[in-house]
Amino acid sequence: MSVKTSSDLWWKNAVVYCLDVEMFFDSDGDGCGDLLGLTERVDYLAGLGVSVLWLMPFYPSPNRDDGYDITDFYAVDSSMGTLGDFVELVRTCRDRGIRVIVDFVMNHTSDQHPWFQAARSSKDSPYRDFYVWVDEKPPEKPGDLVFPDAETSNWTYDRKAGQYYQHRFYKHQPDLNLANPAVRDELAQVLGFWLEQGLSGFRVDAVPFLIEGVLDDPHQIIRDLRSYVNRRVGEAVLLGEVNLPAEQTRAFLGDEDGDELHMVLDFIGNQALYLSLARGSAEPLTKALSSYPKIPAAASLGRFVRNHDELTLDKLSEEERAEVFARFGPDESLQLYGRGLRRRLPTMLEGDERALRMVYSLAFSLPGTPVLFYGEEIGMAENVDIEGRYAVRAPMQWARDGGFTLPGVSPRRPMVEGAFGPERVNVTDQRRDPGSLLNWFERLIRRRRECPELGFGSLTLLESGAESVFAHRVDWEDATIVCVHELSGSPATVSLPVGDGERLVDLFDHSDHDLPATLQLEPYAARWFRVARTGVRLPP
Ligand code: NOJ
Repeated sequence: MSVKTSSDLWWKNAVVYCLDVEMFFDSDGDGCGDLLGLTERVDYLAGLGVSVLWLMPFYPSPNRDDGYDITDFYAVDSSMGTLGDFVELVRTCRDRGIRVIVDFVMNHTSDQHPWFQAARSSKDSPYRDFYVWVDEKPPEKPGDLVFPDAETSNWTYDRKAGQYYQHRFYKHQPDLNLANPAVRDELAQVLGFWLEQGLSGFRVDAVPFLIEGVLDDPHQIIRDLRSYVNRRVGEAVLLGEVNLPAEQTRAFLGDEDGDELHMVLDFIGNQALYLSLARGSAEPLTKALSSYPKIPAAASLGRFVRNHDELTLDKLSEEERAEVFARFGPDESLQLYGRGLRRRLPTMLEGDERALRMVYSLAFSLPGTPVLFYGEEIGMAENVDIEGRYAVRAPMQWARDGGFTLPGVSPRRPMVEGAFGPERVNVTDQRRDPGSLLNWFERLIRRRRECPELGFGSLTLLESGAESVFAHRVDWEDATIVCVHELSGSPATVSLPVGDGERLVDLFDHSDHDLPATLQLEPYAARWFRVARTGVRLPP
């Protein structure tokens, strides 16, 4: 495959940036970020080098789950702007070489959605079967509650309807009945509508729940979704939220040719990464990454360090989870639902920027598509005084005075305070400092995009000879990249397997190493090398 054809599979060499419009930049001084504000900051994102913008929900919503509770799939919440503003944003992004994808919630609506209101009003309503109703409450299944702090059941009795309705999440989010073809048609129309606004795809919320309860070939729903979306727009992608063991996650990418989701977020690798960091050992990550079956050539894994929810550790064993809690969030107030953490990485690492850079370097060096959450590029932390999962969704820190809204205005959610507050962590200061995290991220992203091997190649885990060093190789056609990352914060010595007539060229400082390479690594070292072979010209 040449670089030319690699553009057809653009998502495999993309760098995604996820943000909440309400928390990014407030242009009109009402305390709430908006589309106009975001549009003003598109050049910031372009400068950083990201190639895909992922917008968290911006649809009209009573906002009881930060917009994941939608009342109208066809509009923009007035607090964030208008559909016109949305189109201007997408157009501006396109002009700066950035594609836009949006969160799409197909699993449920808000209970305020007109479909649900009609459904509960009458058994004869055409919308009744849009939701899942039963007369008798089914027995609860252990582990089925996603938000055990708020709910005690996945079924709630609706007096008006005289029946129980299903909700895998909050009771104000009734589940849509995807087994009903009329529901699937309606949702297809919604997807078609947004694709016509110039989008390049969707982050599909809660994917495994979509096919639950569908008896005949449940994955057909995902196949149909994929073929519909790509009939409408050939380049559009589906990035799925699938937090399941590797084998089951892989199933959502479809057959060998990949006929379901184009990408899934790699929760398994993410959770193992934290266990590896807690132990200072490469072993958990090595084990997790080798548990993935081969993925289709056109598919990709979204590699992320932090997302917008709790940092879930639900796929680790109880003991493993306890280790991560003990190391990164021992206080119960930092934990959530017994399975996750409410912190971002900089505070977990007590502000150690070497360690921080190493973690992102590692995530970006794994074959797959890196996904950033806003603020990671400046080392933003959380505000634990903000309730629950929203602790990590504080307003973006643009300047020493916050810079998110107009002076004197209180943001809809409080900013981070203290050592990681905007006085010390902000875009303006870091822009001016060539050694800042922000400028380092810009270089990292540029490097990552210049290395399509990392998007398209296949992973080989290497025996580094040092427990604390995660070493891997990525091969694509005749190109090879070798990376080493020291996870424990101690010096280490590693030997890298390199063949006759090969040399390693450091991708960040361009020094060559004679081989076989025995490297002395400093604590939290993060190194990427291209393998130079006699007679093969290397890219710059
Ligand atoms: C998954 C989203 O990531 C989360 O934020 C949301 O609360 C649930 N889906 C329900 O929509």
